[in-house]
Amino acid sequence: MTSEPTVDGLLPFQAMEILKRARALEAGGRQVCHLELGEPGSPPAPRVLEAVKAALPQAQGYTNAKGLVELREGLAAYYHDRHGVGVDAESILCTMGSSAGFILAFHAAFRPGARIAITRPGYPAYVNTLLGLGFGVAEIPLGQQNGWKLTGAAIAAAHAQTPFEGLLFASPANPTGASVTREELADIVATCRRLGVRLISDEIYHGLDYAGPSVSALELTRDAIVINSFSKYYCMTGWRIGWMVLPDDLVRRAEILQQNLFISAPTLSQVAAIAALGERDYAEQQKALYAVNRTLLTEGLAGLGFETGALPDGAFYAYAGISRFSNDSMAFCARLLDEAGVAATPGVDFDRVNGQAFGRFSYAGRRAEIETALERIGRFLHL
Ligand SMILES: Cc1ncc(COP(=O)(O)O)c(C=O)c1O
Repeated sequence: MTSEPTVDGLLPFQAMEILKRARALEAGGRQVCHLELGEPGSPPAPRVLEAVKAALPQAQGYTNAKGLVELREGLAAYYHDRHGVGVDAESILCTMGSSAGFILAFHAAFRPGARIAITRPGYPAYVNTLLGLGFGVAEIPLGQQNGWKLTGAAIAAAHAQTPFEGLLFASPANPTGASVTREELADIVATCRRLGVRLISDEIYHGLDYAGPSVSALELTRDAIVINSFSKYYCMTGWRIGWMVLPDDLVRRAEILQQNLFISAPTLSQVAAIAALGERDYAEQQKALYAVNRTLLTEGLAGLGFETGALPDGAFYAYAGISRFSNDSMAFCARLLDEAGVAATPGVDFDRVNGQAFGRFSYAGRRAEIETALERIGRFLHL
């Protein structure tokens, strides 16, 4: 968790570093409240586990590179039912979580050296994956005053300064929970089209939207790469299963890359994913718990002196200003963990420029853990 020298900009994923440190404390007998990771507090739906148990004896081999036809057809039906768009199952590729989807998307759409824009703050793995794979990065700064939202104007301004070939962004976003409306997404799509920028839409937090259903980029364009995952909404982080929807011109290249890089997504996880698609009621029950946690945590942190702004629209994080307490988010989170037993992620993970003034607190876990965490933080701050 200390600052590390870096030759090429590649930095540790601090949320994972905090987790490592928290686990070490737990191994020594400490009890830690885990607010550092976006990990649902509940297991996958019971029918998902039953489906996997039943499939276990047979599901030992690879699947075809794109994934089981039944899963891809299930996903095509999902786009028809939820978003009113027809997607050919042949354009869908099942991945090892959305994380593998990013690698496939970058290499399918661009050549190493190409510059891809991301938002700042944004999901830390974007910048680290791009730099690790030899791509360039352009950052588009977002502001709290605008609800942390990406706009067409911000894209155009950044592009005028440093041109880029692609744009990767998430709505709802990590760490801010910011979500764009249909009109705002249409503005982003139109701006990308005008500038000749390929859009990669990370839709992993779709479903976890508290201000109305999220709009998929597929409703507005077929030129974008759409990436999604079973990790969050379906409570399946460790199953490592996600998917991507590709524009026609990239399907074959992505399939070839998948064949060679990963062969196929894990077979049992694909079986689990087929079952999960039918378990939206269960997923909605989890979302109702997050909605309660969202208010509890955001208001709780605000009451303790953190700057929280409005309730986040989606995902399950509070990105809170810590400037009343510290101007060094790494040191603040280290002390919070060591002295108070609360694991949270320093803002520098999401924003290398202004992140020292922020911390990210996840409300994906159980309510009791959040209540305990708030008590501990209050004591730690001597409130
Ligand atoms: C915005 C965003 N995209 C992608 C991921 C990676 O998820 P997966 O488990 O599907 O690889 C995360 C995980 O936290 C995330 O926040």
